[in-house]
Amino acid sequence: MSRESVVSEGLKGVVIGKSEICFIDGKRGKLIYRGYDIHDLVKHSNFEEVVYLLWHGKLPVKKQFNDLYNNLVANRELSKGVISILKSFPKKATPMEVLRTAISALSLNDPDADDNSFEANIKKAIKLTAKTATVIASFDRIRKGKEPIEPNPNLNHAANFLYMLTGKIPNEMISRFFDICLILHADHELNASTFAARVTCSTLSDLYSAITSAVGTLKGPLHGGANIEVMKMLSDMGTVDKAKGYITARLAEKKRIMGFGHRVYKTEDPRATHLRRMSKEMGEKTGEIKWYEMSRVIEDIMMSEKGMYPNVDFYSASVYYAMGIPMDLYTPIFALSRVSGWIAHVLEQYSNNALIRPIAEYVGPIDLTYVPIDKR
Ligand code: COA
Repeated sequence: MSRESVVSEGLKGVVIGKSEICFIDGKRGKLIYRGYDIHDLVKHSNFEEVVYLLWHGKLPVKKQFNDLYNNLVANRELSKGVISILKSFPKKATPMEVLRTAISALSLNDPDADDNSFEANIKKAIKLTAKTATVIASFDRIRKGKEPIEPNPNLNHAANFLYMLTGKIPNEMISRFFDICLILHADHELNASTFAARVTCSTLSDLYSAITSAVGTLKGPLHGGANIEVMKMLSDMGTVDKAKGYITARLAEKKRIMGFGHRVYKTEDPRATHLRRMSKEMGEKTGEIKWYEMSRVIEDIMMSEKGMYPNVDFYSASVYYAMGIPMDLYTPIFALSRVSGWIAHVLEQYSNNALIRPIAEYVGPIDLTYVPIDKR
């Protein structure tokens, strides 16, 4: 039934509200968090500071930074209940399924779970951000038949995650590169998972529910799942000389090349610039430069054949691979950072809420006559 409205498939180009959190200039390749260019944040900042910035709208002074930092450290541990839930999951469950279920379970013993005040939400935000890392690392240990590793209070969020995963304190280069990956993934305006979080909390449901929705949405291969698909593709190719034939054949079959294209960027994604550099440097450091070289060949073909640029998922795959991170953790790692951005958007949504409920143009039949079941 036609209502006098324009249908916008996939909400392409639809502005659904005002936000002060993140600005993407898709034509000029700019990404801004709360007024600060992503390149400056990568150069000067760290993940914990970016978290403060996203949630509170300004850079912290020393005390504010230390309070948030220490609160994140203090909230890393999982309860025995949550550890035993993780142990009860099938070992072959995907880490994204586990994360989605565990985030939901975190609310069960939280006395603030249903309190939507700003103060309660900040308390929950700290728990969610700190514990997301521990859930991911702990499940990886458990599925390998090992005990989870206790968080190390002397390490920052990035280094502690890698430590909980491997039991080894990462060197300075890897710690800083991983910290940069977390900064780069922290927010990205109204991407699908952030939108899902905002839709959920716009019903005045709680923060845990909003983040659970977001994790489920991030999982898909058109969104956060793309980084895994990129690494699978690189592994399938195996060697640099196969890259050209592989990509040309896939394009001829009209298949999508994961890690390319973007709804908003029509030029280089500024996050890819940093990830490309880190992929190269990590490749040189580990002596396995072929993943970077393969990626460069693919990038050139995609530009000449389709005029398409790599997105954030393309080079993050080879960066994580060089860090020794299991492939199916790439999307959970996206969540480990993006949880901070989801939370910022939920806080903003609550502060000026309007129920998000679009309408559809009905194109099905009307005026059908009901026929009883034994007469159909
Ligand atoms: N490889 C090959 N072709 C691609 C492509 C890719 N990665 N991404 C888009 N295209 C093509 C589509 O086939 C379509 O071509 P057509 O008009 O001839 O049918 C055209 O570009 C537009 O694609 P569309 O899906 O409408 O654009 P979108 O804005 O809705 O999609 C993405 C954006 C990100 C979903 C899309 O680019 C994609 O699927 N990328 C791969 C997955 C990925 O890397 N996701 C992570 C995003 S950060």
